[in-house]
Amino acid sequence: MRSLTILLLAGLFSVVWLTEPQVQAQESDPELAQSLKRGLRVFKIHCQSCHAKNGDHPDPLFNLADGVWRFGGTLEEIEKTVSEGVPGTAMLGFANRLSKKKLKDVVLLVKSFEPEADSEDR
Ligand code: HEC
Repeated sequence: MRSLTILLLAGLFSVVWLTEPQVQAQESDPELAQSLKRGLRVFKIHCQSCHAKNGDHPDPLFNLADGVWRFGGTLEEIEKTVSEGVPGTAMLGFANRLSKKKLKDVVLLVKSFEPEADSEDR
C-alpha cells in the first residue's frame, strides 16, 4: 500500500515534470515558482487555445514566446494588455474574467515565456 502511494506520487511528479518544462523549479524563489504554476493553470484554461502551449504559436501575431512585444514587454505593460485586451481584436480584456491574483500569476507566466533576456543587445 505504501509503495503504491510512492509509485503514484512518483508518476504524478514525472507527469508534472514532463508537461511543465517552462516552469522549472525556482529554488531561489519558491513563491515565484508557485505563482508560475498557478499561472500555467490559468493559461491552459484561458489563453492556450489562441496562444498555443507555452505561448509558442507559429504565427507571430499569437506568439508570446519570441520576445517581441507589440504592446510592451514589462510586467506592467503585459498586465495592462491582458487586463484591457487589444480593442478590435480577438484579444479580450481579462480584468473582469480573472481575479487579480490569477491575472498576476498568468502575467508572470507569460513574461517567463520570453527568451532569456541575458543579452541586452538583442
Ligand atoms: C480568442 C483568442 C485569444 C485568447 C483566448 C487570448 N488571446 Fe491574447 N491575443 C490574441 C490576439 C489575436 C492577440 C494579438 C492582437 C493584435 O496585436 O492584433 C493577442 C495578444 C496578446 C498579448 C500581446 C502580445 C504583444 O505582442 O504585446 C498578450 C500579452 C496576450 N495576448 C496574452 C494573453 C493571455 C495572458 C491570455 C489568457 C488570459 C490571452 N492572451 C488570451 C488572442 C487571444
